[in-house]
Amino acid sequence: MSGDALLDESVTDAIRQQPGFLLVYKFAIEELMTKLRILSEEFDLTHRHDPIEHITSRVKRPEAIAAKALRRGLAADLAAIAEGLDDVAGVRVVCPFVSDVYQVADMLTGQDDVELLRRKDYVAVPKDNGYRSLHLIVRIPVFLSDRVERVKVEVQLRTIAMDFWATLEHKLFYKYDSQVPADFATELTDVAALAAQLDSRMENLHRRLH
Ligand code: GTP
Ligand code: MG
Repeated sequence: MSGDALLDESVTDAIRQQPGFLLVYKFAIEELMTKLRILSEEFDLTHRHDPIEHITSRVKRPEAIAAKALRRGLAADLAAIAEGLDDVAGVRVVCPFVSDVYQVADMLTGQDDVELLRRKDYVAVPKDNGYRSLHLIVRIPVFLSDRVERVKVEVQLRTIAMDFWATLEHKLFYKYDSQVPADFATELTDVAALAAQLDSRMENLHRRLH
């Protein structure tokens, strides 16, 4: 067995032997989901428009954490992993319109107990492949029986159209094991531009109604 595989397994084992490690990420996701649900419902009531279509979340699997820690050259201990990885906990917020993406991000990061660590705006500046989404790394307190843990969560905010595109692109990427045929890649980038156009035209229609 190679050294890498050993390291990989030791990280996976360490995570499994300390169930509290992943549990705080699950709690952080629950806290964040509650915040987002409150924003969704209250905004709907006060503005007659729900800025959130749906929310999904996941805690990264131990194997995936170990593999990423290895790729990043992190030490095989849980503290180094908690420090070095930003996406152990992930929340994806899908919004009807681009304006909702920014509105939800602003309302969330404006809260006293939400600390914004990083913001990547792939909506304003899409990736070369056409990927668009607003990424936030936030840190929120989780109140445990004997301490408070400040836990990082990756929040991806995107429109329904952006989500449609990203889901398809992700599937193709995995199906072809990262080797997407050239014509696929070009076609994907083209349809990403179409999705962006759709977003902007839908937003204009929505503005005329509100
Ligand atoms: P990762 O190591 O992939 O987490 O990259 P990063 O640390 O530079 O973070 P970035 O904000 O660029 O991407 C974080 C996450 O956004 C990824 O893990 C994916 O879930 C999503 N993402 C980023 N780029 C793409 C893309 O081109 N296509 C799709 N489908 N998802 C993407
Ligand atoms: Mg990631």
